[in-house]
Amino acid sequence: MWRRSYLLLLLVRIYFAISPSYLHPDENFQGPEVIADELFLYPSNKTWEWTSSYPIRSVFPLWPVYGIPMILLKWVWAQDDQQNLSPKAIYYLLRVVMFILSFVLEDWAIYELVHAPRHRRQAVILVASSYVTWTYQSHTFSNSIETLLVTWSLVLIERIVREKNYSSMLPCSILSLIIVFGIFNRITFPAFILIPGLQLLPHFLARPFSFLVTVASAVFFTCLAIGTDTAFFRLRDLNTSWTTSFKTVVTNPVITPWNNIRYNTQTSNLALHGLHPRYQHFLVNIPQLLGPALILLLTSLPRLSLWNLRVPFSNPSLLSAITGTAFLSIFPHQEPRFLLPCVPLLLTCIRLPTSSRGRKWFWSSWLVFNTLLGILMGVYHQGGVIPAQLQVPDLLRSSISSPPTNNTTAIPATIFWWKTYPPPTYLLGNAAPFNISTVPLVGLSQPEMLEQVTAALPFPCNSPPPPPHPLTTREAIQNNQPVFLIAPLSSHLFPPSSASTPNTSFLAQARLPSTSQAHSPAERKQDNKDQGRGAEEDNTALELTLMWTYRQHINLDDMDVASDGLWGTLRRLVGRRGIGVWRVERRCPPGSGVGSRRLP
Ligand SMILES: *[C@@H]1O[C@H](CO)[C@@H](O)[C@H](O)[C@H]1NC(C)=O
Ligand SMILES: *[C@@H]1O[C@H](CO)[C@@H](O)[C@H](O)[C@H]1NC(C)=O
Ligand SMILES: *[C@@H]1O[C@H](CO)[C@@H](O)[C@H](O)[C@H]1NC(C)=O
Ligand SMILES: *[C@@H]1O[C@H](CO)[C@@H](O)[C@H](O)[C@H]1NC(C)=O
Ligand SMILES: *[C@@H]1O[C@H](CO)[C@@H](O)[C@H](O)[C@H]1NC(C)=O
Repeated sequence: MWRRSYLLLLLVRIYFAISPSYLHPDENFQGPEVIADELFLYPSNKTWEWTSSYPIRSVFPLWPVYGIPMILLKWVWAQDDQQNLSPKAIYYLLRVVMFILSFVLEDWAIYELVHAPRHRRQAVILVASSYVTWTYQSHTFSNSIETLLVTWSLVLIERIVREKNYSSMLPCSILSLIIVFGIFNRITFPAFILIPGLQLLPHFLARPFSFLVTVASAVFFTCLAIGTDTAFFRLRDLNTSWTTSFKTVVTNPVITPWNNIRYNTQTSNLALHGLHPRYQHFLVNIPQLLGPALILLLTSLPRLSLWNLRVPFSNPSLLSAITGTAFLSIFPHQEPRFLLPCVPLLLTCIRLPTSSRGRKWFWSSWLVFNTLLGILMGVYHQGGVIPAQLQVPDLLRSSISSPPTNNTTAIPATIFWWKTYPPPTYLLGNAAPFNISTVPLVGLSQPEMLEQVTAALPFPCNSPPPPPHPLTTREAIQNNQPVFLIAPLSSHLFPPSSASTPNTSFLAQARLPSTSQAHSPAERKQDNKDQGRGAEEDNTALELTLMWTYRQHINLDDMDVASDGLWGTLRRLVGRRGIGVWRVERRCPPGSGVGSRRLP
């Protein structure tokens, strides 16, 4: 029975692994985007973590996890000289890699950590049926990698302690590698293994040589990591000679974990990311990750001893999860994904109710909880961002009237993303002949958004009309710069009726920024008189034409419970779910002698 369930759950995991939901911008900008920027000539957006003079993230863990698959794919796939690789293939490859890592390493670690066969099967099934495994763990989060590293550290610590007869050099050096990798991956890694790691002390006291091996390998791997980071951040010039490179590493190394500690210990910095109460992890985040399993965990606790005099560290998994959460609670920025490593560890500690009725209750509530959250987080959560971004180059190509010739200069195109997460820019791939600027407007208000979009359109209404046809290629390009708006269909801006019918247009009134700095109405009036143009600009309408939609998209950041009520908000977000790509054009007022500014 449990084998069949496990196989069925495997299919579920694969399904979620290749569902393009988007849980947090970090899953892209702290990983694939950085490596894709190194390997391909695709546009990229490196965030401040990577560009500041004290970078706080390390590339050392990124190369093996994302770099190697990308390099292999490039090697296998790219056949033309320009090494053009479909960004879609890169995206799905990385998701499949994360799935395989979780399927092999996480499940195997659980198998090693739980000894009684009955509990072991149950733990593996619980982990395989948790929505956290389906969704977060198959996304490219540093937290997902941390889960694998924490569980494997615990496995290795246990092996080292158990093998009393030999000095266990191999497990010791692998443990060193994992610890260094973990610290460079996320600075919070030691929080999870510090206390369980204390069991090594008696072992090391009895076998100093084994301690020496551990320390020596840790020093070696740390140097390797610092060297990798220094090369990445400081030695961009490939012609640097070996001696200069070496000198830079020694005299001016980049130690990202240290920069990270300095950054994160300042509450003013954390405040930029949002401050949470200190109990958020224990009272909100863990329940959100575990759901009904938390109740069983609490009822199982009396039966689990963390510590007894005869067997100290009798439950390292539970110890690691609890002390890790406690350490992380010290910091006031607390997101659920920081606790990913706790989820499999806590699930191994659960003891099912003894009565069959209790079990039935548990399994059904667990199934409902994980199905709902799995579908919400794994399919719908910002689910249209990645498909839309992959579609953008094609939509741009279909939107211009004159087919680009070989020698056309790059056509500037501006894509505004409103009320969505910032999209991964590398997914645009080689969008020739377009030079795409991606502008995430995130949560800007509607008037501000329309103002920015209007400012990007070519030809203000008061400019002379475009030259008559036939245009030269260059002029056609100048006159034809596409501007797109990508936003959830649930936005108040879009009329509900047209929201999912392709090729429908509607007009939106934009209040244009006044051409001068004047902002009060009186000043603006004065301005109009002087220049004779502000008046018509204020009337300018934007024509938005829906080009493409994708229905599996819900964004939870666009709640407006205050004015719509809870039910109204839910009806809007769920009923009108989806993301749309709109082409934006200017519709000038009749007096100005120009109609729509789109060329035939
Ligand atoms: C780049 O990514 C960051 C991180 O999410 C985002 O805040 C920023 O708006 C993005 N910029 C562009 C141009 O995409
Ligand atoms: C334009 O590109 C095509 C293939 O991309 C090539 O066959 C053709 O020779 C090019 N024409 C010019 C004028 O460069
Ligand atoms: C680009 O193509 C046009 C014809 O389509 C030609 O007149 C022009 O000389 C070409 N420019 C270059 C730089 O090759
Ligand atoms: C693309 O546009 C940016 C400015 O928007 C410009 O700096 C860059 O040189 C352009 N790239 C190409 C290939 O034209
Ligand atoms: C929308 O318009 C494009 C070109 O203008 C056309 O190719 C496409 O078939 C239209 N789609 C629908 C559903 O009418």
